[in-house]
Amino acid sequence: MKILPSILSANFAHLAGDVQEIEHDVDLIHVDVMDGHFVPNITIGAPVVKALKKETHVAQDVHLMVEEPAGLLTDFLEAGADMISVHVEACKHLHRAIQIIKDGGAKAGVVLNPSTPASALEAIVADVDYVLVMTVDPGFGGQTFIYSMIDKIKAVHELIISKKSSAVIEVDGGINAETLPLCLEAGASLFVAGSAVFNSKDRHAAIKALIQSGNK
Ligand code: DX5
Ligand code: ZN
Repeated sequence: MKILPSILSANFAHLAGDVQEIEHDVDLIHVDVMDGHFVPNITIGAPVVKALKKETHVAQDVHLMVEEPAGLLTDFLEAGADMISVHVEACKHLHRAIQIIKDGGAKAGVVLNPSTPASALEAIVADVDYVLVMTVDPGFGGQTFIYSMIDKIKAVHELIISKKSSAVIEVDGGINAETLPLCLEAGASLFVAGSAVFNSKDRHAAIKALIQSGNK
C-alpha cells in the first residue's frame, strides 16, 4: 500500500517547501487539476507539475478533473507527470485518452465519480494501470467519506479480476486512519490523503499513522 499526499491541502504559496517536507516519507504525491467546469473549483495546471519536478524527486500522480482532458494530456506528459488519470464521465473517447497517456510513458488511470457504477469500467479496465474510485464528490478537500463506496471498491476489485486486468485501485476523498482500513480490505492499495496529511501539525507522524492504520 502507498499513501499519496494530495497537495490540494498544502499551502500553494509555499508549495515546494510543503512537498519537500514530506518527499522522503512517500513515493508519490497527488496533484488535483480542476477546471471550474467538470468540478466547481479551479486549481493548477501543467506548469505547476513542471515547476515541482525541478524542486522534488517524488513522483507525481495527476488527477484531471477536467472536461474533455485529451487535448491537455501532452502538456502534462511533457511537464513530467508519472501517473495521469481521467474521469470516465469527462471523456467522449476514453480509450484514445488512455492510449495518449500510455504512449507518453506515464501510468494511465480512469476515475469514477461516486454516482458512477463500477460497470462503467467494463470496456476499459483491461487497458488501464489503475482505477481511481472517488470516495467523495470531487472538487474540494476535507469532505466526508461516502461509506457506500466500500461496496463499489469491492465491485471494481471483482471486475478487475474477472477481466484479467492488472489494474490497482486508488481511493481519494475523506481518507483517514478510520476509513483507510475499510478501503484496504475492499481491495484498494493506493490511498490519497489531503487534509489528513497537510492539516496535521506533524505531517511525518500523520503519514506514519495512516500506514499503521492499514497494518492492524
Ligand atoms: C477532491 C480531490 C482530492 C482531495 C482529497 O476533489 O480529488 O484529492 O485533495 O482531500 P481529502 O483527503 O482532504 O478528502
Ligand atoms: Zn484527487
